[in-house]
Amino acid sequence: MRIASFVGQKGGVGKSALARVLAVSAARKGHHVLLGDFDLEQLSCIEWSATRLRNGIEPDIETRAFKSLKKLRKTVEDFDLVVVDTRGLADELTTDVSQESDVVFLPTGTSMDDLRPTLALARRLAKSRKVGNKIVLVLSKVGRSERLLGIARSVIEEAGFDVLDNIWPERDGFQSDLDMGRAGSESHNSHLREAALGIEADLLALALGKKA
Ligand SMILES: Nc1ncnc2c1ncn2[C@@H]1O[C@H](COP(=O)(O)OP(=O)(O)OP(=O)(O)O)[C@@H](O)[C@H]1O
Ligand SMILES: [Mg+2]
Repeated sequence: MRIASFVGQKGGVGKSALARVLAVSAARKGHHVLLGDFDLEQLSCIEWSATRLRNGIEPDIETRAFKSLKKLRKTVEDFDLVVVDTRGLADELTTDVSQESDVVFLPTGTSMDDLRPTLALARRLAKSRKVGNKIVLVLSKVGRSERLLGIARSVIEEAGFDVLDNIWPERDGFQSDLDMGRAGSESHNSHLREAALGIEADLLALALGKKA
């Protein structure tokens, strides 16, 4: 069983959205996936999963809330992949989850306001031997400016961290999809489905331990 987690120091950067995108893409490929929601204040993945069930969207994504890693470990024997969503504030649980994960995704926008705290967290986590080389940044909710994207990539590379080749683009349609219990490649809109393919493939490859 592999664990892929989404952590961050910033709220609203797309952790929960990307956790759902990864869970859906794994489930659609036939993997037995559990979405673990550690954000007990918001429970956004639990809510999303309930909406998904209400709207009859297949495949079903098993989603459970967890307070601690110990609780998660007790219940997850027969899953191939556990996708962990955490809250928008780095705390002790962030470190615990990161240490136990096979890959730790840090979603970030392209602005310095997003990059600075994300890189600071990445540096902090990287100090732990158990996290070090598992950190991967994900450019998330990215606007249409190639220039800003290029700058963000070079800032991340200069800081010495890995970043996915594909990005999670900001689109109103993705927001509507999430609100309806869908994610990424399940979009009603073919352009959006296409726009999600690259990032899904990157996330899934790393989550399953293949090279993106
Ligand atoms: N690619 C996208 N395009 C447009 N809207 C998006 C996209 N991805 C996420 N959103 C929306 O942006 C908001 C924040 O995303 P999300 O909840 O995934 O962030 P988060 O990092 O989990 O936030 P928090 O720290 O509060 O848990 C949500 O309203 C979500 O629907
Ligand atoms: Mg969230």
